[in-house]
Amino acid sequence: MILRREQAPDRPEILALIEAAFPESVEARLLRELFASREYLPELSIVAESADAEILGHVISTRGWIGDTPAVGLGPIGVLPARQRQGIGAALMHASIDAARAQGEPAIVLLGSTDYYPRFGFVPADSVGIASPDPSWGSHFMALPLSGFHSGIRGHFRYAAPFSKL
Ligand SMILES: CC(C)(COP(=O)(O)OP(=O)(O)OC[C@H]1O[C@@H](n2cnc3c(N)ncnc32)[C@H](O)[C@@H]1OP(=O)(O)O)[C@@H](O)C(=O)NCCC(=O)NCCS
Repeated sequence: MILRREQAPDRPEILALIEAAFPESVEARLLRELFASREYLPELSIVAESADAEILGHVISTRGWIGDTPAVGLGPIGVLPARQRQGIGAALMHASIDAARAQGEPAIVLLGSTDYYPRFGFVPADSVGIASPDPSWGSHFMALPLSGFHSGIRGHFRYAAPFSKL
């Protein structure tokens, strides 16, 4: 398996994968809109590909803001159902974190399972001064502060525009 940056011709296969990972859910539509959005960041859209060029998983992070400070929001992330629990999601998470760090992003935020993301260093976002767009998300709204993060970066997180249409 290799990890590489997503390219436009990959998108139909990625969208089919996300539909399979999230049946009857909004994620594929959201992802399609993120690809077309101003907040799309090509360096932070990453695929996991098998040796025979099948796309096994995908993760995207897009531009968001903590108060007025640019940061990134991660998601959706999905792995082909038949290939879940084989470490592909973890490989995509590590690649995303490394890419965001290399870009100098101060933090990554996400909404997700408190059983999965803490293993990558994510903590409840409010514990580092980042308020959720929706208080009902509670501890599922998590953040990973990176090296540029400091206590002056505080406030509500605002996702890329397509998230507000959900
Ligand atoms: C979540 C997802 C991306 C993880 O990728 P993966 O390749 O299956 O995960 P990994 O192999 O790296 O890690 C497996 C571990 O994650 C846990 N895990 C996987 N999906 C999980 C989930 N949705 N919630 C909580 N834990 C989850 C497994 O229990 C396993 O834990 P263990 O190592 O303690 O046994 C993938 O399972 C997926 O696409 N799921 C459907 C879509 C989805 O729920 N996306 C994320 C929304 S928050």
